[in-house]
Amino acid sequence: MTEGQAEGHALRCCYIGMTMAASLPLTPVERDDLYYMLLLKDIGCSSNAARICQLFLADDLAFKRDFKTLNESLPQVLHFVFTHTGLKAGLAERFRALVHTFTAGNITHGLIETRCQRGAEIARQMRFSDAVAHGILDLDEHWDGRGLPLGRKGKEISPLAQIALLAQVADVFHTASGPAAARREIAQRSGKWFDPALSARFAAIAADPAFWQRLASPDMERIVQDLAPAEAEGGVAEDFLDDVAAAFAEVVDAKSPFTSGHSKRVALFADLIAEELGLSDEHRRHLKRAGLLHDIGKLGVSNQILDKNGKPDDDEWVAIRSHPGLGARILSRITAFSDLAIVAASHHERLDGRGYPHGLTAEALGLDTRIISVADVFDALTADRPYRPAMPIDKAFSIMDRDVGLAFDPDCYAALKRALDRAERLRSAAA
Ligand SMILES: [Fe+2]
Ligand SMILES: [Fe+2]
Repeated sequence: MTEGQAEGHALRCCYIGMTMAASLPLTPVERDDLYYMLLLKDIGCSSNAARICQLFLADDLAFKRDFKTLNESLPQVLHFVFTHTGLKAGLAERFRALVHTFTAGNITHGLIETRCQRGAEIARQMRFSDAVAHGILDLDEHWDGRGLPLGRKGKEISPLAQIALLAQVADVFHTASGPAAARREIAQRSGKWFDPALSARFAAIAADPAFWQRLASPDMERIVQDLAPAEAEGGVAEDFLDDVAAAFAEVVDAKSPFTSGHSKRVALFADLIAEELGLSDEHRRHLKRAGLLHDIGKLGVSNQILDKNGKPDDDEWVAIRSHPGLGARILSRITAFSDLAIVAASHHERLDGRGYPHGLTAEALGLDTRIISVADVFDALTADRPYRPAMPIDKAFSIMDRDVGLAFDPDCYAALKRALDRAERLRSAAA
């Protein structure tokens, strides 16, 4: 979603990479690592979205998608620049953005470095192996040493990264222009981007029409699930799931400078409310995860909209209003988090029915959603926003007071106030 690729890009890359791996001399452990690395290769990509937008004043989703299909020939570069930079900006700003684009060599370097490093860190936080993290770190390195960010060359590059980069190029070109374009692109970049042996491997599997038929299958999710490494005995530990939720919260919060730390703070405020309401430890754990993941759908909204300094226009509103639904769709597909989908779906609804996206009313809004809504709005008011600086707590409360019973649940709101009062008393007692 954040890379602006056609839906299912990571799944298809996983299928391509694992199909290649079947005939490569990898150990079983390397093969398992490759599987996860292929799925997580873009996990750091949200962290450069804001910079891309600022530098190029363009819609970061469309920009990232087309940047990948850009060949290095000049007419195409120019066409790309004129169709993708400063699309909605005024002329003067647009000119500045163009200058940036023409001098963008070093900037691109920085963007890719950020993305790779953040991606590797997040994979480690989710307890994946060093090999997985390393693969993500090396994703944009090229066989001839002219890749980024370190210019690693040949066998210095993580073998997982090499397979993933090839799979990525194959999927992007296949999706844009079909099998022949994908085969041509992989062959042309052999020895430059890719190990020639790997390109030859791809040419061999690409000669089989069944490979392309499966790649276009609407059943890709199941195909990839069938390729998954055997799961460890005993299921997944709860504290591991907490780490996964926290790591994804960072992916979401890294997307925009204005949401930095937002999900983590919403989780904290939700937990304070839950404690005041005397909820069980298990329930509190669930709510913390809900706070961490409530905005995960924002990954699918362009930063040009999220970071806008001014009122969103009609189209932009449509995009913003899509984030609860997108979030619910993502979470409902993850067994361990599927019960959080309802909170993601309805965290912008109001008791009086004037919220979005569905205008639900009080009867449809459960306790968890009510708690997250209060925590969410409180944090939104007390943090910096594109269009105004952070607000003092008293002022935030005076604004929220007006909406009690209309937007927010009175009990949850009162609980937040009590909890913050208590925290303040503890703090002054300690001072
Ligand atoms: Fe939200
Ligand atoms: Fe939020």
